[in-house]
Amino acid sequence: MRTDPAWLPPAAFRAVGRRHALVRGTGPLADTVRGELARACERFGGRVVQEGTAADLVLKLTGDTDDEGYACVRAHGTTTVTASGGRGLLYGLFHVVRLGEDAFRGERAREEHRPAVALRMLDHWDNVAVHPVMGQVERGYAGGSLFWSDGRARGDLDRVRAYGRLLAACGINAVAVNNVNVHETEAHLLTDRIGEVAALADALRPYGVRTHLSVTFAAPVVLGGLPTADPLDERVRGWWAGATARVYEAIPDFGGYVVKADSEGQPGPFAYGRTHADGANLLAAALAPHGGTVHWRAFVYDHRQDWRDRTTDRARAAYDHFVPLDGDFAPNAVLQVKHGPMDFQAREPVSPLIGAMPRTRLAVEVQATQEYTGQQRHVCWLGPMWSEALRFRPDGEVSAGRLADGLVAVSNVGDDPFWTGHPLAQANLYTFGRLAWDPAADPYALLDEWIALTHPGAPARLAAGLHAVLDGSWRTYEKYTAPLGVGFMVQPGHHYGPNVDGYEYSPWGTYHFADRDGVGVDRSAATGTGYAAQYAKPWAERYESPDTCPDELLLFFHHVPYRHVLHSGKTVIQHVYDTHFEGVEETEEARRVWAGLADLVDPVRHARVAERYEEQLRCAREWRDQVNSYFLRKSGVPDERGRTVC
Ligand code: GCU
Repeated sequence: MRTDPAWLPPAAFRAVGRRHALVRGTGPLADTVRGELARACERFGGRVVQEGTAADLVLKLTGDTDDEGYACVRAHGTTTVTASGGRGLLYGLFHVVRLGEDAFRGERAREEHRPAVALRMLDHWDNVAVHPVMGQVERGYAGGSLFWSDGRARGDLDRVRAYGRLLAACGINAVAVNNVNVHETEAHLLTDRIGEVAALADALRPYGVRTHLSVTFAAPVVLGGLPTADPLDERVRGWWAGATARVYEAIPDFGGYVVKADSEGQPGPFAYGRTHADGANLLAAALAPHGGTVHWRAFVYDHRQDWRDRTTDRARAAYDHFVPLDGDFAPNAVLQVKHGPMDFQAREPVSPLIGAMPRTRLAVEVQATQEYTGQQRHVCWLGPMWSEALRFRPDGEVSAGRLADGLVAVSNVGDDPFWTGHPLAQANLYTFGRLAWDPAADPYALLDEWIALTHPGAPARLAAGLHAVLDGSWRTYEKYTAPLGVGFMVQPGHHYGPNVDGYEYSPWGTYHFADRDGVGVDRSAATGTGYAAQYAKPWAERYESPDTCPDELLLFFHHVPYRHVLHSGKTVIQHVYDTHFEGVEETEEARRVWAGLADLVDPVRHARVAERYEEQLRCAREWRDQVNSYFLRKSGVPDERGRTVC
């Protein structure tokens, strides 16, 4: 089966392909723009013209800067895009593609566009070797790796090039090509196998995508034969400097390292009595002469917790570990923080670390791969969730403006012909890129943009149907899975499907504490773990009391009786029953809407989604019945509407 064109089907280029287009400027990215236009014109009857010929579309590259912005104006019958850097020119081209015929109508006032966030990155949790438990892509639901096959970098890189093109079209400019859990084989990518990484970088570069690599902190020991990886040891520092210089010989525009240290079994500076800042700064020093950056992940917690211990709270861990180090990190070290304090659950508060380290560069990490949100068998469009997180401000304002230096998503792409397994999961990747460019953008408008690009000229019924099945899908998923901010009621290990007590007596620190009287985790400062006090004032006060805590996070912050009345007027137990019934009903409705689009969607695509809706519905019913039965049995409180709870 051929690869799906995702949001760049040939017809998306119809408007530009009908024009006389001129590209002014030189360099590899100007050549990419020229190539794009040449292909579009060949298909739709336009022409790439030479200087001196009248043109309807002019793309001007005026310099060689790193500026990613561009300006667009239409006057006297010509649409002109101007950029001072190659990436800006490329992004300007895709802007015109998005505008379609509108780009060539009447006059358009000059508009300037520039990304709000400099680093817009995808982390691939891809392994070179197939891992015995995790498969090739850790938490991957779209087949094998796009980059690695048969134990090495793919020989045929056409799909990697096509990927780079899709990423450029939604504004993503960086990719880390291997898993943050760096296993033995993958450790070697840094040294003797850097040539394979270089081949991937060559394929991504024409679309302005820089390559980064996940490395193991123990590299000086496992690769360099040194007796230590102590960040303050001169031999270790020398080893990293040398290894990094060799990386830059192979990949001159290499982006830098991604590191998961002292977390879930990965090695780190703690073994030597050093801090995370010592660890990050070691790699930052090696990268600095070459202009690279280290992304040091803040996902650090005790994963061998005793479930009997009620004082340790995993949600507190990142803040407790890192806030004391604010100001200690090198300028080219970026702390990469998950958007929530736990682990990509369907509902979490925004991490209190965001905003608590004013003297540290931060990147916010979200999960496009749907580990806890239906594993790309369920439709769960995460745009509204990410948008809420990105609009959150520690001082209490929910607004636009600067939140972080970088936005990172764990990629949901694999070697599947539809890229993302579930064809509708493409909308997550696209929305992420566009939100990273402009975190203040309206996610629902971005959804419509994705629909329009992916299905050019779609009849209104198709566009409306696609919007309907995606728009509320995250809240639907939340309804039939996790009520009121409770998380982790999933099957342990693979994390698919319900298991209310699956993690309740485990060492992972992910409990809900349901008993016969109530449910939830007391994270208040007054009587609980104190997590609520990690927030700045307005939020700390709001979360501290069940009276002011938002309903959707109530059980994240408080342990309350089943008959506790929510702001909605319902009791907690009735909310559990109602949302679980509603979640299944909404899934049935979405399946019905999708079935009604059969005459408008390519049959293979339609069948793939239809088949996944069957599984989603089966699984949603399982969630409903397990969760409702569990809480009926615990609480003894019947559904006030008398529905059958199995
Ligand atoms: C989750 C996920 C792991 C992953 C980890 C991480 O816990 O289940 O597979 O390694 O996140 O972000 O490092």
